[in-house]
Amino acid sequence: MEPIKLVDNIHLLCVNDRRTHLFENYWPLPNGVAYNSYLIVDEKTALVDTVEFGHSFGYLEHIENLLNGKTLDYLIINHMEPDHSGAIKMIIDRYPKCIIVGNRKTFPLIEGFFGVKTEQLVVEDGALLNLGKHKLSFHMIPMVHWPETMVTFDATSQILFSGDAFGSFGTLDGGVFDHEINLDFYESEFRRYYSNIVGKYGMQVQKALAKLGGLPIKILASTHGPIWRSNLSYILEKYDMWSKYQAEEKGVIIVYGSMYGNTERMAESIARELSVQGVKNIKIFDASKTHSSYIISDIWKYSGLIIGSCAYNGGIFTPVGNLINQLHEIGLKNRHVALFGSSSWGGGGLRVLEKWAETMSFEPVGPKPEARCAPKANDIQECKEIARAMAKVILA
Ligand code: FEO
Repeated sequence: MEPIKLVDNIHLLCVNDRRTHLFENYWPLPNGVAYNSYLIVDEKTALVDTVEFGHSFGYLEHIENLLNGKTLDYLIINHMEPDHSGAIKMIIDRYPKCIIVGNRKTFPLIEGFFGVKTEQLVVEDGALLNLGKHKLSFHMIPMVHWPETMVTFDATSQILFSGDAFGSFGTLDGGVFDHEINLDFYESEFRRYYSNIVGKYGMQVQKALAKLGGLPIKILASTHGPIWRSNLSYILEKYDMWSKYQAEEKGVIIVYGSMYGNTERMAESIARELSVQGVKNIKIFDASKTHSSYIISDIWKYSGLIIGSCAYNGGIFTPVGNLINQLHEIGLKNRHVALFGSSSWGGGGLRVLEKWAETMSFEPVGPKPEARCAPKANDIQECKEIARAMAKVILA
């Protein structure tokens, strides 16, 4: 899109990517994704992060026009993941005297990914860089969500260039600033981005929030999604809650893996009884159909989780197995969890779920029914017991 002025001398250079199907070749992008880069034109000039190579149409031209005859003095790399660093080589080829600004963990990655060797400015935590009117400082926020991640704060405009932090999936379709967009529309994409991309690093996000809380931030400028300048507390409060693994709402996510519909029938029974017991937020997901990123996003939102699986090759059904592995990997906690399953000629689904749950920080709820082939009356009865026990703790 055309450059957008944030304040005097600072422009957003956003590339909306509506072509890529999968972010990091894994996460679906039905609403696309925006890559945000920022250009500061002062006595000295600086570009903060770049965009994904291959989606950089017009990017260099915009930089050239905004520089208006000046050269690019600094390229600040807050985050080295290639969706932001992909255009580094192109920038250095165009501005060979440009100094790359990063920290000690940034430069080995730049050389490793792109083979770029150019003049470096290695900054430590709290280091300053004076561009003239704009005075930048650099703050390390390691593992949010890579080891080299840092943020850049401009004391003059009070903009925090925050890297992936406070980012979102979804392109910027006209609206760029938070007050210009319907946040309800973006909310699920904010959460899906956080829970799947950053969710593993809750402790590091908490440290970053504490550290950045000391800065007088007026504008939050992430590398993905909207620019926050009216309602910063909205996203800051979400980040605080998400990184503490706290549920936002009372409700129950039921996920099942079912080959022939029997485990699904158990899920239906549980859901109906939950509703009878007064739980209003209930969502059922078929793990074979819905990409795990959407399921994980909703699991992040609600306080209860019920997972069921049929048996497969003496173990768990693969889509459910993949989901619980991801939940283990990202360290989900603070949820009320119940389990169920079905066996046929051999069990295994429920057994794997039980072992998994023992490794997680969950509050176990209710019985763990395992139907032999198709669920019988006693299995359905136990499913209803799960629902009643879950409703009791959820609505307490
Ligand atoms: Fe948007 Fe971690 O890259």
